[in-house]
Amino acid sequence: MAGSGLLSTLAPRIERIAGRLPRRVFVLTSAPIWALWNETFLASFPEAPIVLFLEPGEKYKSLASVEKLLREMARSGGDRGSLLIAFGGGIVGDVGGFLAAIFMRGIAYVQVPTTFLAQVDSSVGGKTGVNLPEGKNLVGSFHHPLAVFADIGVLGTLPDRELRAGLMESVKAGIIRDRTLVRFMEEHVDEVLGRDAKALEKVIAASIRMKAGVVSRDERETGLRMILNLGHTVGHALEQATGYKTLLHGEAVGWGMIATLYLARKRGTITAGQFERLENLIHLYGPLPPLKLREKKVTAATGGDKKNVGGVRRFVLPIGIGDAGVVEDVTPEELEEAVAYMLARASAG
Ligand SMILES: NC(=O)c1ccc[n+]([C@@H]2O[C@H](COP(=O)([O-])OP(=O)(O)OC[C@H]3O[C@@H](n4cnc5c(N)ncnc54)[C@H](O)[C@@H]3O)[C@@H](O)[C@H]2O)c1
Ligand SMILES: [Zn+2]
Repeated sequence: MAGSGLLSTLAPRIERIAGRLPRRVFVLTSAPIWALWNETFLASFPEAPIVLFLEPGEKYKSLASVEKLLREMARSGGDRGSLLIAFGGGIVGDVGGFLAAIFMRGIAYVQVPTTFLAQVDSSVGGKTGVNLPEGKNLVGSFHHPLAVFADIGVLGTLPDRELRAGLMESVKAGIIRDRTLVRFMEEHVDEVLGRDAKALEKVIAASIRMKAGVVSRDERETGLRMILNLGHTVGHALEQATGYKTLLHGEAVGWGMIATLYLARKRGTITAGQFERLENLIHLYGPLPPLKLREKKVTAATGGDKKNVGGVRRFVLPIGIGDAGVVEDVTPEELEEAVAYMLARASAG
């Protein structure tokens, strides 16, 4: 559910869904978010929940954090009837969902995402988990929350760069499944970036609808769900090639989509006009940070994407605006050309 005023009315909403408020309610959050929003969060709870903190940053999305938090839950009297509320961005959501998946073999949980990315993407679809030093998201489980409460008001404190990066996932949602969303985002840039509640709600609701629709038809990521990876093969390669330091995920996906659109135009699955329109849309929600990378480094890194099965380099390509398909025959030359185009745009700033 996405809307305004959800955070201050959380307890009765959970009660309605769960039947009653469990005796032990845990909140997993991080200190900066809790400092900003604890009063609003606590407003509707008759009894304060037990608050668990995860330090901010991808490096704490780890098994070490999971063990520490599980032990805290056990020590505070958590049992099978306990409920966990994940209150934060995608990192808190992924760790919180994973805790709920494995504590006492699984307890109920609720997602209260606080970043744009978490509201439209990571809180939808039931994927939970943590990173290993060997790679991102290598450990995890599918565990669906009882409910997702995406409060648009909470985005009021989100840094502008985080908002813009998250919006790239909505651009993606429009390109692969929703022409109306593409048009809306083209026509309402100022409202969306200005955090107008109505405009944000529209973009968020459409993005969630798209992802939930795709996921419900392909829970375990065997086929259709692949299309959610538009721009992500090159995007992940960019994140890897920059050591996960300079780019936010959505920014990497923004550049990745530009390479993908180029490839699609070359193959004729989108027209030159559509290419121009969509590339322009990505920049409207930029700026994307400039890149200083060698083409070879990026193309080499695309081979390491974990969604490749049996060494085949899978690519999601848009088909017109609002549809997409998966191809497996992208040649190294095609990829190099697309990456070169993108890097030329990215070094121009
Ligand atoms: N499970 C999935 O399907 C899925 C999908 C996409 C991404 N992810 C994961 O999501 C993670 C990224 O999530 P993210 O982009 O939300 O990053 P994040 O959780 O690191 O949050 C970004 C930053 O914003 C701050 N923040 C969060 N909410 C705020 C608010 N309302 N006001 C002010 N500051 C706020 C956080 O403290 C943090 O510094 C990655 O680990 C990624 O793997 C998971
Ligand atoms: Zn993504």
